[in-house]
Amino acid sequence: MKIQIINGPNLNLLGKREPGIYGSEGFETFFEALKNKYATIQLHYFQSNVEGEIINKLHEVGFSFDGVVINAGAYTHTSIAIADAIAAIKTPVIEVHISNVYAREDYRHHSMMAKNCKGIITGFGLQSYELGVMSFL
Ligand code: DQA
Repeated sequence: MKIQIINGPNLNLLGKREPGIYGSEGFETFFEALKNKYATIQLHYFQSNVEGEIINKLHEVGFSFDGVVINAGAYTHTSIAIADAIAAIKTPVIEVHISNVYAREDYRHHSMMAKNCKGIITGFGLQSYELGVMSFL
């Protein structure tokens, strides 16, 4: 089984960025532990601050991988292009968020991509990604 995790803008700063909201663990450390825990599946990780690069990655994996877990960061709320890419591919996509977006500002309550996703997981810290992966098992 092949699963792609995609992180969008500013998520390269996890561990340093607003730790009160996003925690103090960097994503790389978390990802290494996740790979060890789910050693029988192929987990891949990609991060970009660039909208088009996220779309390119969705196209690249979207016809051969078994699942995508995406945290598109603020693009979640704005990007028709990422929403269209999710609709265009065959691989099912789970939208995840570290924080509970519904407990935050109104502009975080709407997701452009949610309707094209298999499901949404929000508010469980980095465990949101693990729950996303588990949903494909
Ligand atoms: C986020 C929530 C978004 O609203 C925000 O723009 C992010 C991170 C989360 O994981 O909680 O960058 O997707």
